[in-house]
Amino acid sequence: MSRPPVIARTLPALRRALDGLRTRKATVALVPTMGALHAGHISLVRQAQRRASKVVVSIFVNPAQFAPTEDFGSYPRTWKDDVAKLAAEGVDLIWNPDVKTMYPPGYATKILTEGPASAGLEDRFRPHFFGGVTTVVGKLFTQVRPDVAFFGEKDFQQLKVVTRMARDLDLGVKVTGVATMRERDGLAMSSRNVYLSPEQRASAPALYRAMKETAKRLRAGGDLEAAMADGTALMTAAGFAVDYFEARHADTLAPVTSMKEGPVRLLVAARIGNTRLIDNIGA
Ligand code: PAF
Repeated sequence: MSRPPVIARTLPALRRALDGLRTRKATVALVPTMGALHAGHISLVRQAQRRASKVVVSIFVNPAQFAPTEDFGSYPRTWKDDVAKLAAEGVDLIWNPDVKTMYPPGYATKILTEGPASAGLEDRFRPHFFGGVTTVVGKLFTQVRPDVAFFGEKDFQQLKVVTRMARDLDLGVKVTGVATMRERDGLAMSSRNVYLSPEQRASAPALYRAMKETAKRLRAGGDLEAAMADGTALMTAAGFAVDYFEARHADTLAPVTSMKEGPVRLLVAARIGNTRLIDNIGA
């Protein structure tokens, strides 16, 4: 039986806990989360354990990445369950600051990135989002100073943005993406899936099915514009309002017009009822 994780809630407590972890030759991995942990997060933790001797998981629902109209207040918070799951995985340290610790009165600094953060995908619909993510992830990186950090590929643009930021600011952390975990019917795991009504939940896998169908057509040499339009129509027919369904270069996120310009990634954001889902696959 491994020891239960240390829980740090203040910066001095975090420093003490990290000093305890950083024995000679220890490598430290960070898995940043907003809690409401599901099997997707656990797969990040397991990858982290394979790659580092000590694993830190942060749980912080970051107000800076939510617009006033978004779900910061209602975002699922499942602290007890989260701790039990991380304890069962043998995680070493949980970093759980409160908002005042992360953004004390007078806080006035933001990390603003361009490049992948202005690719015209999530940034087009959630202009506040990446400024909030990079600021909090930049802070988490400087607080924990991990050797390696793990992010899900489900938030593909976020992964690219954070990778770029870590390189640009010489943060000395290797950002690593982990494949999306899916439910048996293909729906990408997300803490926000709990918002779906039973009917919406039944329709939701159509997003993945439409992406797969589109990717298959593209691989078979189908016209990109027509395949994307038909994929969008499949999503709409299943009850989604599609914010975007786009084919982009998997490294740069630049728009592509044919598979020859690849590797190609298909990225979607679509709303069903009040819930907005995002997903992506390689084509
Ligand atoms: O992907 C998330 O859960 C969040 O955006 C992150 C990376 C933990 C930053 O708050």
